[in-house]
Amino acid sequence: MKFAESSEVGKVDPLKGQLRKDEGGQGEKEKGQGEKRARGSKKNAEETVQTEGSKKNAEETSQMDKQVMVGEIKKIFEKLRRSKKNAEETVQMGKLVMVGEIQKIFDQLMGVIRDFLNSDAQVLAINIKGPTGVGKTTLVFYIAEQLSRELNKKVPFEFAQCNQAQDYHELLGYQKIAHRWIWVTTKFVDGPILKAIKAADKNGIAILLLDEVNGLANEAQKLVNPLLDGRNMVKYGEIEAKIHEGKLIVIGTMNELASGYYGISPLNQDLERRFKNVYILPYPKPDEEFKIIHEMVGGDVESNIIIGAIKLANHTRGEWGGPPISTPMLIAFISAFKVFSKSNIPDALTEAFKVGILNHFDEQLRGPLTEKAIDVGLLPHGR
Ligand SMILES: Nc1ncnc2c1ncn2[C@@H]1O[C@H](COP(=O)(O)OP(=O)(O)O)[C@@H](O)[C@H]1O
Ligand SMILES: [Mg+2]
Repeated sequence: MKFAESSEVGKVDPLKGQLRKDEGGQGEKEKGQGEKRARGSKKNAEETVQTEGSKKNAEETSQMDKQVMVGEIKKIFEKLRRSKKNAEETVQMGKLVMVGEIQKIFDQLMGVIRDFLNSDAQVLAINIKGPTGVGKTTLVFYIAEQLSRELNKKVPFEFAQCNQAQDYHELLGYQKIAHRWIWVTTKFVDGPILKAIKAADKNGIAILLLDEVNGLANEAQKLVNPLLDGRNMVKYGEIEAKIHEGKLIVIGTMNELASGYYGISPLNQDLERRFKNVYILPYPKPDEEFKIIHEMVGGDVESNIIIGAIKLANHTRGEWGGPPISTPMLIAFISAFKVFSKSNIPDALTEAFKVGILNHFDEQLRGPLTEKAIDVGLLPHGR
């Protein structure tokens, strides 16, 4: 967790007073693996392009050109790396293309929030459901920004990335062991829920995002119940926090996949019921997704390629024996294509397809996916 500092050697269960071993958390581990995977696929992508590039060099170009080519590929990857960084920053800033259902849900949510601010209620509980990559998390950041603009003050925003390993300690807070010279002391570190409750009282309003809330372990889900059902509080052992004057908007997001490819862990019924405002964010319609991609990538890509990519994505969003292609994957693919074709990389489309899409899939799915891409007219025949 980001609030665990480096001096920390363990965490104390505030109830039992036991020292927890510093496990780093399953989520951290998963994140680590995810990063490794991402790094792996980027590396593969680099290797792929380099092999393609050097093949062409060997056949067609002189030694001098070879150097130019290697330099060129390096530049392209630097550019891609930078644009990926920008994309990440964009998510933080809450950039969204407002079309279709996401626009509708945004408008409805802002209405619900305004009503809440004019009411006596202290906690507003919202649940946004939908498959991966439809913009649930980004939408919440966007709402926080919009609300800050409307209220003309920064609305405090607490973000909890939920997962099985994130128990009451991480959500509420925990005793941290700190070393000062030869002394060992403890210090209580607030988790995102406590921070949000305190911020609501201090600033009059705060937002708490429980991202992928269905990923929370059962026990941790129970912790959230009294916050959402009118008691406006959380309690675990000695730790207790209640909202006295402020208003807190609690937004949970969760994946609910139409294709049912993943085992979806449901929310506890108790918690599910307490999220009074439920919104379902589906995949965008093809024309809406076209607009999203077009705007996010920044034009000058042949429409047919974007249309083909969307067709392929929609094929994977039904039952097909593998995970679906998400909008961010399409954006990555089309961005890579744009950069590759501008840089005269041979077979720009196929290379971008590998980097942006195929690398996300297990080996055995890559064949069928490529065939389908040819079927829908995205990739040319005969490769
Ligand atoms: N309507 C949209 N406008 C702009 N980008 C979108 C839109 N929908 C999805 N995206 C892209 O998808 C990315 C992932 O969104 P994210 O909020 O993480 O989805 P989720 O939380 O539903 O998994 C965004 O950063 C953006 O690149
Ligand atoms: Mg999300």
